[in-house]
Amino acid sequence: MLTRRQLLQMGLVGGAAVLLPWERAIVALAQSPSTTPFAVDLPIPAVKSPTSTDDTTDYYEVVMQHAEVEILPGVLTPVWAYDGLYPGPTIKARRDRTVVVTQVNELDVDASVHNHGAHVRPEDDGHPVDLIPPGGQKVYTYPNLQRAASLWYHDHVMHVTSRNVYMGLAAFYLIGDEVEDALDLPTGEYDIPIVIQDRSFEEDGTLRFVDSINSVLGNTIVVNGKPWPRLEVANRKYRLRFLNGSNTRDYELALDSGDDLVQIGTDGGLMPEPNRASSIMLSPAERVEIVIDFADVPVGDSVVLKNLIGNPNIGLDDIMRFDVVRSEDDPVGAVPPTLRPVPERGPARVTRDFDMDFSDELGLWVINGQPFDEDRIDVRPQLDVPEIWRVHNSAGAPHPFHIHQGMFQVVDRDGEPPLPAEIGMKDTVQVNPGETVSFHTVLTRYTGVYVYHCHNLAHEDHDMMAQMEIVPADIPEFSDIAGHTHEEAILAVATAGITTGFPDGTFRPQDPVTRGQMAAFLQRALELPSGAGGGQFSDVGGHTHEEAIAAVAAAEIAAGFPDGTYRPQQPVSRDQMASFLQRALDLPPGGPHPFTDVAGNPHEPAIAAVAQEGIASGFPDGTYRPRQQVTRGQMAAFLARALDMDTPTPA
Ligand code: C2O
Ligand code: CU
Repeated sequence: MLTRRQLLQMGLVGGAAVLLPWERAIVALAQSPSTTPFAVDLPIPAVKSPTSTDDTTDYYEVVMQHAEVEILPGVLTPVWAYDGLYPGPTIKARRDRTVVVTQVNELDVDASVHNHGAHVRPEDDGHPVDLIPPGGQKVYTYPNLQRAASLWYHDHVMHVTSRNVYMGLAAFYLIGDEVEDALDLPTGEYDIPIVIQDRSFEEDGTLRFVDSINSVLGNTIVVNGKPWPRLEVANRKYRLRFLNGSNTRDYELALDSGDDLVQIGTDGGLMPEPNRASSIMLSPAERVEIVIDFADVPVGDSVVLKNLIGNPNIGLDDIMRFDVVRSEDDPVGAVPPTLRPVPERGPARVTRDFDMDFSDELGLWVINGQPFDEDRIDVRPQLDVPEIWRVHNSAGAPHPFHIHQGMFQVVDRDGEPPLPAEIGMKDTVQVNPGETVSFHTVLTRYTGVYVYHCHNLAHEDHDMMAQMEIVPADIPEFSDIAGHTHEEAILAVATAGITTGFPDGTFRPQDPVTRGQMAAFLQRALELPSGAGGGQFSDVGGHTHEEAIAAVAAAEIAAGFPDGTYRPQQPVSRDQMASFLQRALDLPPGGPHPFTDVAGNPHEPAIAAVAQEGIASGFPDGTYRPRQQVTRGQMAAFLARALDMDTPTPA
């Protein structure tokens, strides 16, 4: 094993700036067959059709198989590929609709499929030792209880991820949702996923893979499976979803026209607002979504997507070319100035430190001094408890740090604000040599063991990966609050099947909420101090009840919930609702209740709050239909009846 010092001498450890000698070495080692840039059309990866579908779920079957594909013109390259396609077939999912993928392994090697960026149970996560043997298959369930984003699925087998991905096992997994649909952005054929990879080839077209501990770099830029391709476009806007699917290589994207890139998305979907920048860095596994408007490009002209940190001597400074070949009306307006706010997920209660380094003794890349060990749990974050992870890079190479299961928000880089391109939700963040990057994360919904690691696949395989076990939160006890009302309110609301992410202001019916989430939510809604039993529900004067109502209302209460059961789509009776509200708000049984007497006309804002939350309409009729708007008047009438109050005057 080479020591770090030897590696340094060879120029193999280092940031992008010192990669040039290594790139030259690669060229000398592997002269790929020569390829003319911009000669081949950019393919759009095929979108997979479900094998069947029902009310809640789309079912797919994907076969991992050997195939021969034409990457370089005129030669066939053997690959290992999902459905024999390189890149693999795109799976298009919708938020709140389950996708079940049966992965069949017809390769001669073990496989494990990780849906990168997906929020899933541990058994569906493609853990590096959760293997599908040759001839085997495994069913992965993706609930898609998360916002629209461009994810990708790829192989994740312990120690051989680098090889398996290099051989072709990678594909897009795109989640869409209504929030995104409501924005005026290019769609359909004008919304294109683009994976950028680098590969080297033997003369006969065979992929040349070298199992390096440091870096796997190719001399040919392969975009959606073709070298330096061209795409014919109209003179209008396109939404381009770029994924760096390379094992090691970083790119700095820019247009040769000198125009700014208009970034609208990160790993985790739309950003709060667009980021206009002359160039954008993309480290392995990161995604950026960019709107390019070709309106000012004369038909017949071209725009080249450049890589500002690629060696120009071997063409690594070019990625692909857009040829404007026709004029078309653009129905899409200017990129909206606001896109999608990041969720408010509460202040961190835990801070953890991670150090990324190279161990000379072990000859391995390590996190906090240790190489990966499947029998060791490195950290145990609690479910729903916000944390800050501070990741320091002590080693001489950049490390794109990736955590499974949790989208995060970058908080700072060495105390400075995050880069404009990383404002939003992320699952991978570049940590440069000597730098400390902090991010805020909350691990929600599922407990169990997941990995986090460097996404330079050479580092990940050798052995820059660790495990976290997400454990149930140590929930504050609310039962000591006076008169146990608070406890009941929490239980009642919790059993109502409130959408997770509710604390984020998002609404996802049918999604279980944990007690911890609800406690955190109520604490904020009721302005209780955080921690166990700090708040006195019964002594909160004035506006608290309103907020309680708003809180309860926003919770999309489900029927049956006064019984402690959650049965969506089931009618709730007036008495059930009245009884719940009585308990939740600590009202004496029976009526009428002096709601209208509460200072400052709280009744009215409460109703308004409730109405605005889009509670199931028909609710006043005793029926429950999620996702349907209720009018303010309907809600007012309902509350008036439920609480035996005078009908308020709607404002
Ligand atoms: Cu994209 Cu753990 O990986
Ligand atoms: Cu690394």
